[in-house]
Amino acid sequence: MVRNKKLKVALTYNVKPEESSFESAQLPLKLKNSSSYNDTYAEWDTIETVNAIKDALEHYHDVIMIEANENAFEKFKAVRPEIVFNVAECENGISREAQIPAMLDMLKIPYTGSDPLTLTTCLDKSRTKEVLTYHSVATSKFIYAESLDDLRDFRLSFPVIIKPISEGSGKGIFNSSLVSNLKDLSERLTENLSNYNQPFIIEEYLPGREFTVAVMGNNSDTEVLPIVEINFNELPGDLLPIYSFEAKWVVDTRDNPLNIFTCPAKVDKVLEEKIKDVVLRTYKVLRCKDWSRIDIRLDAQGEPNIIEVNPLPGILPKPEDNSCFPKAARAKGLNYEEMINKVLLIAAKRYNLL
Ligand SMILES: Nc1ncnc2c1ncn2[C@@H]1O[C@H](COP(=O)(O)OP(=O)(O)O)[C@@H](O)[C@H]1O
Ligand SMILES: [Mg+2]
Repeated sequence: MVRNKKLKVALTYNVKPEESSFESAQLPLKLKNSSSYNDTYAEWDTIETVNAIKDALEHYHDVIMIEANENAFEKFKAVRPEIVFNVAECENGISREAQIPAMLDMLKIPYTGSDPLTLTTCLDKSRTKEVLTYHSVATSKFIYAESLDDLRDFRLSFPVIIKPISEGSGKGIFNSSLVSNLKDLSERLTENLSNYNQPFIIEEYLPGREFTVAVMGNNSDTEVLPIVEINFNELPGDLLPIYSFEAKWVVDTRDNPLNIFTCPAKVDKVLEEKIKDVVLRTYKVLRCKDWSRIDIRLDAQGEPNIIEVNPLPGILPKPEDNSCFPKAARAKGLNYEEMINKVLLIAAKRYNLL
């Protein structure tokens, strides 16, 4: 690992409020009717994650903490860090993940990760798939739905999965999100529109194996980390083979960890090359910077299709937390501290800071 030049780094973040800590939820009995879980802050980091990132950066740099709230702009302006390590998801609106990067662009302060355009596009699963489709990157057929009217002339093949257009970390995706007829779909859409104040994406179900792939770098230096496979046979029998909110947060807990991932995934050379190719093309056409994690599933023909792109990937520090980006980094021989500092280094190089 290249020794970094000492930089004045600001770490910008949001921390999950204590009261919504659903990780401690007991294994629920009524998994089928589970859309009542509180998933409001599923995307936000815990204080433990934020501290782990801080510790990693402090190994080489001076670190200033700046919470991603309404006061952030003034703090960035006063502190003027040389670079910002950005893990802020923010709270309000469809541009929330782009808000801090937009502030930093305005202040001409460098930051890690993708720019506001990419962050906003990837936060909208439908816009993401539109870009991919234009560039002939495989992704399942879908429609955008903001009212029941959008189900008129419904032409997708069942089963379909219904997901909030702009959430992450399993928010709004439950066992019940997979539906097999128009009547159930209408009911689910009606219920979801009233629970989540946003449109939905309805897409054809990809029945095959699922992978998630971490990517680091820029341009010709972009590398695909060892592929992670999600083993759905580890889930309790009443859960479907989707990586839902229940699977992510309710049945897979620190006290009761599931052996749900294999990394490196057991894939043959042909499939591995196909996955790498589709991942790199996705990273390029969505103009991701520095790092991202890309979700993939195989279609009925065994071809990899893109599910979604996460330009602000989850990075829980403890191996037992089963966080995929750090897991892939470990399989590549990078521990948490090395992984964080590598992302910073990649960004610093992009801005010619080194
Ligand atoms: N078209 C699809 N076909 C099959 N499974 C899907 C599809 N879309 C999503 N899923 C399942 O739902 C999970 C969560 O969907 P995803 O879009 O990745 O949401 P999140 O942002 O919460 O990670 C995926 O990991 C996958 O298991
Ligand atoms: Mg996902």
